[in-house]
Amino acid sequence: MATLTSVTNTKTNMAAISTGAIDENDCNTPETFALLELYEECDVERQVCLRKIMTEFQEHLTERASHSLGYHLNLSCNYLMDLSPLLRFHINNVGDPFKESNFGLHSRKFEVEVLDWFAQLWEIEKDEYWGYVTNGGTEGNLQALLLGRELLPDGILYTSRESHYSIFKAARMYRMDCQIISTLTTGEIDCDDLRAKLILNKDKPAIINVNIGTTFKGAIDDLDLIIKTLEECGFSDNRFYIHCDAALYGLITPFLEQTPKFSFKKGIGSVSVSAHKLLGAPMPCGVHITRKEYVALLAQNVEYIATLDTTISGSRNGHTPIFIWYGLNIKGYKGIRLDVRKCLMNAQYLRDGLRNAGISTMLNEMSIVVVFERPLDDEFIKHWQLSCVGNMAHVVVMPHVTIKMLDDFLHDLVLKKNIWYKYGEVQPPCLANEIGVSNCNCLDHGKGLMGGN
Ligand SMILES: Cc1ncc(COP(=O)(O)O)c(C=O)c1O
Repeated sequence: MATLTSVTNTKTNMAAISTGAIDENDCNTPETFALLELYEECDVERQVCLRKIMTEFQEHLTERASHSLGYHLNLSCNYLMDLSPLLRFHINNVGDPFKESNFGLHSRKFEVEVLDWFAQLWEIEKDEYWGYVTNGGTEGNLQALLLGRELLPDGILYTSRESHYSIFKAARMYRMDCQIISTLTTGEIDCDDLRAKLILNKDKPAIINVNIGTTFKGAIDDLDLIIKTLEECGFSDNRFYIHCDAALYGLITPFLEQTPKFSFKKGIGSVSVSAHKLLGAPMPCGVHITRKEYVALLAQNVEYIATLDTTISGSRNGHTPIFIWYGLNIKGYKGIRLDVRKCLMNAQYLRDGLRNAGISTMLNEMSIVVVFERPLDDEFIKHWQLSCVGNMAHVVVMPHVTIKMLDDFLHDLVLKKNIWYKYGEVQPPCLANEIGVSNCNCLDHGKGLMGGN
């Protein structure tokens, strides 16, 4: 009965809305975000307001997307609108992707295809891997380090100080002893420091987090050198576990001929990537792959869901495997490679533009993350949604970032910079320690404010 009433109400309301009997302009927008009072009903005026709020919110998002430069997100997702009819369904991949369950509204067939694709990309045989579609890079890291700890319960976690905060969070959650390794100016792990710390802790196994692209500088840890260092320090295969945090670069380095590969053929234990990053998805998601033999360590039979519990999350998003599957189908290997090439070229374009404007800047080889001096004004940082650490800011040149966006950004930055530093009372920061003397254009190391090369 309640359903019938609400259907009738909706019909009447829609009629009132479409005849213009109720005007959107009557909505008092500043207050409209407030939810209804607890026992209040959603009347026809409120429905008109809800529509208006949604229209305005879409306009807001469109504007924000056109100024989104600082985060690892690909906002070119329009083609995924094809999948919007699926929003009518609750789709839930609860439990293990490879096990049948008695819940029918799942997308595990899509999920397994996606996993097969990534397994092939990262070079592990179909019958040797296990994995699942996660809620993003963080969940993949949490899953991986849990596996590492279960495999080597008294292992010490080694990770560089420029690792993503989810790695340190995992160490706290699992109460793991964590050795923080220093980094080179590029942001890459310093293998001399790693060696020194491994030697000090030779009696305990090593769980190593390898950054395939650090968050801030996009630096790629040298996997081959890390493995060599482990071997030279006397760690045999069964006394170390390597996880590759490839949140962004998991879909970049496999497409670059010049960059050393990370691959299961090199003896690593797991890889995680965020799928909303390079590939692009309207909501956070990711992929985690590990070796099949390890997952038994986590598996618990759960009668209630009639399947195995092997994943960090219980209920799992069933839409995201389809978004990823669709994206991989539409773009294909070639399409992603084109996106990667475009991003690399555009990143170099931005680096050159900043340099020519006399701004301290660094771009690692084969990287899409351009690091430069932190703009003085927080309004500017907010407007372009820049991510900042200390005196540094960065732009992540993702597939949605066009040359026009970069030109507008550069133009705005140069204009504002001339105002911020006009009277010489403040000077641009020195970034010699952070990005190297040769990349620093402060008064001491470059030509300062009015310089440029
Ligand atoms: C290196 C690295 N690892 C992990 C993550 C976390 O990924 P997510 O935001 O998908 O949880 C990020 C996010 O930027 C990252 O840069």
